[in-house]
Amino acid sequence: MIDGKKVLFSGMQATGNLTLGNYLGALKNWISLSNEYECFYSVVDMHSITVRQDPAELRRRARNLFILYVAAGLDPEKNCIYYQSHCSAHAELAWILNCFTYMGELSRMTQFKDKSAKHADNINAGLFTYPVLMAADILLYQADVVPVGIDQMQHLELTRNLAERFNNLYGDVFTVPEAYIGKVGAKIMSLQDPTKKMSKSDENPNASIYLMDDPDTIMRKCKRAVTDSEGIICYRDEQPGLKNLIDIYSACTGKTPQETVKEFEGKGYGELKPAVGEAVISVLKPLQDEFARLSKDKAYIDSAIKANAEKAMYVSSKTLRKVQKKVGFPERVR
Ligand code: TRP
Repeated sequence: MIDGKKVLFSGMQATGNLTLGNYLGALKNWISLSNEYECFYSVVDMHSITVRQDPAELRRRARNLFILYVAAGLDPEKNCIYYQSHCSAHAELAWILNCFTYMGELSRMTQFKDKSAKHADNINAGLFTYPVLMAADILLYQADVVPVGIDQMQHLELTRNLAERFNNLYGDVFTVPEAYIGKVGAKIMSLQDPTKKMSKSDENPNASIYLMDDPDTIMRKCKRAVTDSEGIICYRDEQPGLKNLIDIYSACTGKTPQETVKEFEGKGYGELKPAVGEAVISVLKPLQDEFARLSKDKAYIDSAIKANAEKAMYVSSKTLRKVQKKVGFPERVR
């Protein structure tokens, strides 16, 4: 609890271009959370270097991600948005937790198995202990809730196990976090294969709408979206491409899928698709304009980065000091 509010923590990587799916499914819904929770959103650049990065590119993307969050409406005075690498407590707690994590536990992580298959030439120790750093992120802030995708549930479970293990040994040190499965944001699927989630790492650029796509590109991608040959506008699982377009339209206009179906009743896909394009443009255009404006306001962004890093250091150092004391590190002489 901070100021009577429960704590929410989430981390995001600055690799890959964010998609409409990231926005409608997550980011957009986070804005309302800042009233209910004390929110920490970390740009987890330390996690990013578990795979090889171009340094200038990583720095650029991390800053853009930071600005994008602010542009999307996350007020940096109400939400602590900060770079993980600016707060050394993460590395320090990760080391300690490493000493409480078993090789066997980490070997079972499916993301480790997937990533080591994908980067067979660079299976480094950081990739292996990635989930421990993630646990440190969360536990440092005594987070109650962690919004994560299904792919991160195994890491969150490990985090809970580590918290409990540590608490059993040393008394109540860590809050044991819960996954936050939101009042479900829209789940947006690929435009080219609607049985797959829209992903920032999709190799087919037509499968995803990126937040920075220009209006023509958005329109083109919507018009080319894969549908079916039934030709009738219904909202059902048997027509996944159409269902996805209805979901996108609904999420962008604030309508329910049923209202959208009504609106397009008797019309063809040829009318729906450009309307989806327009709806997406009307959501992304203001976001892009705000992003452009903020990108130019270096002083404002820099001061938000600095103030939030300080806040993150302040909050996390309290947990870190407690942990250091518990494991037997000597007290600091002032
Ligand atoms: N591993 C997460 C991902 O790839 C990112 C992440 C790092 C994270 N630390 C976190 C998510 C803490 C939630 C909480 O998506």
